[in-house]
Amino acid sequence: MVLVRTEQPGDCRAIHEIHRHSFPTNIEAQLVDALRAAGRLSVSLIAEADQRIVGHIAFSPVTVTAGHVGAGLAPISVESAYRRLGIAAELVTTGLRACRAAGFTWAVVLGDPRYYSRFGFLPGPDFGLTDEYGGGTAFQVLELAPGSLPRSAGLVRYAHEFQFLTESSKAAVTSTKKG
Ligand SMILES: CC(C)(COP(=O)(O)OP(=O)(O)OC[C@H]1O[C@@H](n2cnc3c(N)ncnc32)[C@H](O)[C@@H]1OP(=O)(O)O)[C@@H](O)C(=O)NCCC(=O)NCCS
Repeated sequence: MVLVRTEQPGDCRAIHEIHRHSFPTNIEAQLVDALRAAGRLSVSLIAEADQRIVGHIAFSPVTVTAGHVGAGLAPISVESAYRRLGIAAELVTTGLRACRAAGFTWAVVLGDPRYYSRFGFLPGPDFGLTDEYGGGTAFQVLELAPGSLPRSAGLVRYAHEFQFLTESSKAAVTSTKKG
């Protein structure tokens, strides 16, 4: 039995640990902490099973040059022992519903199209939308309200915290190579 709910203040450490154990580095765990501290963790849901937190999904604001704001899905993690049970799917579905309720009219994700297409995500380039990371068709978009997608608007930017963490990870790699 899995319960998906909005994060509570006491959940922060468990959320950090889920991401830290699910990704090769702690970048994603730090990203969630930084977004929360900046007030840009727009939607943050946890999945609870066996009385503990086993999954998490975050959405933060993304913008296009014209100033339209959408919801960017990242990151998402499910504890390894609980994978392939549909928990991530439940987090994505509930998360998108929460984004709509929060007033977001479109969403983006950078991920495997074979997975995200099942939620209705379509390739961003087909709508004239690109990302900062050269994701190509892995950069996908979803309209949450009819006619709301900012078509042909070009570059979609993630929150500032994504840039900061990308640069700090590059710096860490560079200093490791030098050292
Ligand atoms: C990706 C992840 C969140 C999926 O969690 P999950 O609860 O097992 O996902 P679901 O049960 O809803 O779906 C499982 C299926 O979808 C695939 N899938 C799920 N999320 C996926 C993703 N983001 N990209 C590609 N495939 C994915 C799984 O391989 C699996 O395939 P199968 O049905 O053919 O066996 C989990 O594997 C994880 O935490 N991985 C490490 C962190 C990560 O890579 N996050 C995604 C990038 S931000």
